[in-house]
Amino acid sequence: MNNKKPDLKNVDLKVKTYKEMNKEELQREVANLKAEYKRYQDMDLTLNMARGKPCHEQLDLSMGLMDALNSEADLSCEDGTDCRNYGVLDGIQEAKELIGAMMENSPDNIIIYGNSSLNVMYDTVSRAYTHGIMGNTPWCKLDKVKFLCPVPGYDRHFAITQYFGIEMIPVPMTPTGPDMDIVEKLVSEDETIKGIWCVPKYSNPQGYSYSDDTVRRFARLRPAARDFRIFWDNAYGIHHLYDDDQDYLIEILAECKKAGSPDMVYKFSSTSKITFPGSGIAAIATSLNNLEEIKAQLTNQTIGHDKVNQLRHVRFFGDINGMKEHMKKHAAIIRPKFEAVLEILDRDLAPYGIGDWTRPKGGYFISFDAPEGCAKAIVDRAKKAGVTMTGAGATYPYKKDPHDSNIRIAPTYPSLGDLRTAMEIFTVCVRLVYANKLLGEME
Ligand SMILES: Cc1ncc(COP(=O)(O)O)c(C=O)c1O
Repeated sequence: MNNKKPDLKNVDLKVKTYKEMNKEELQREVANLKAEYKRYQDMDLTLNMARGKPCHEQLDLSMGLMDALNSEADLSCEDGTDCRNYGVLDGIQEAKELIGAMMENSPDNIIIYGNSSLNVMYDTVSRAYTHGIMGNTPWCKLDKVKFLCPVPGYDRHFAITQYFGIEMIPVPMTPTGPDMDIVEKLVSEDETIKGIWCVPKYSNPQGYSYSDDTVRRFARLRPAARDFRIFWDNAYGIHHLYDDDQDYLIEILAECKKAGSPDMVYKFSSTSKITFPGSGIAAIATSLNNLEEIKAQLTNQTIGHDKVNQLRHVRFFGDINGMKEHMKKHAAIIRPKFEAVLEILDRDLAPYGIGDWTRPKGGYFISFDAPEGCAKAIVDRAKKAGVTMTGAGATYPYKKDPHDSNIRIAPTYPSLGDLRTAMEIFTVCVRLVYANKLLGEME
């Protein structure tokens, strides 16, 4: 976490928090905020802080990919494979080396897939569902299959498990990872629990990274189910915001091997937020036993993925150092956006004692917790003033946030100017909804 304290030099420390205000003070506050809200509504804005997409400037960074290959280029791999033709089920060697370095795994433990890691996760659940894992009963033949879902978490993970009718059990997240006391207890007692969704580094939506202790406890899980797997989605492995303050995690495959459970983890990643989302390359890293099983299925699904794109990525980056340099350019574009969001939250909400938010050092999101029971109303109000946020509740399984509190902020896509305006509207909405709530409680 970024431990920089809010900059309070411009904050009037004598200001009352909303909880300290009496009815008249709150009524005055609501009247002022309504006027401000109306002023924004009259501006007829269309701003979007909903999805974690790179902005145009970030996409421009990868335009060199388009020049890495052309009609004159030799499209053969180092081993002579002609990338223009069919074949090579698990990816070309040089792509495995590049993505292996990115994922901190040996190329031998990697299968390169197509353009989306989410697709790989879906296929992984689907295979377990229809065919089972390593000789265990296919999940579709079991009465009940459950997954643990650290919350708040990534809505598209939850969508996959919901699609397969898998029951999702929320587990609270902490700044050091999921609550491991709960994970250990549930996983060891209940053999219908077959998996857990994890975003271990710069998590979606909080930007939290798992501590060494958390990773070690994951590797030492003793699940009741023999086919329990950790779904380790390392989407933001090299997505640091700061050069001098980065998170490093213990590598989970190596740790599971050390703990005697080499097959317990599937690790996923992609270059979606490194080059072009939807036109990058995705991969799974896992044990040799798991790889063998996956390849036995994959061979029925495809003759091979897009090797030309794999080669293009290798030629563009050269090696992992090229990729890391490239990520510094992304950081230079998005860091000011993260800092603007935090500055506005610190300025407009902290003095009034409203809400909590994370201060990530990487990844794509900031997680905002509104006072209980306010999130839906805030997102609705923001929408009516032209600001689209991720739907309230989206960060919970079945879109049900029991506290109606969590809102995911995605700062990367809008321009810095639009983002500041959107955040200013957002904080007006937060204050308005909360002041109204407190007034309602006084009636
Ligand atoms: C945690 C996480 N995993 C996966 C994805 C999507 O990855 P891909 O584009 O490789 O399917 C995202 C995108 O927001 C994400 O936040």
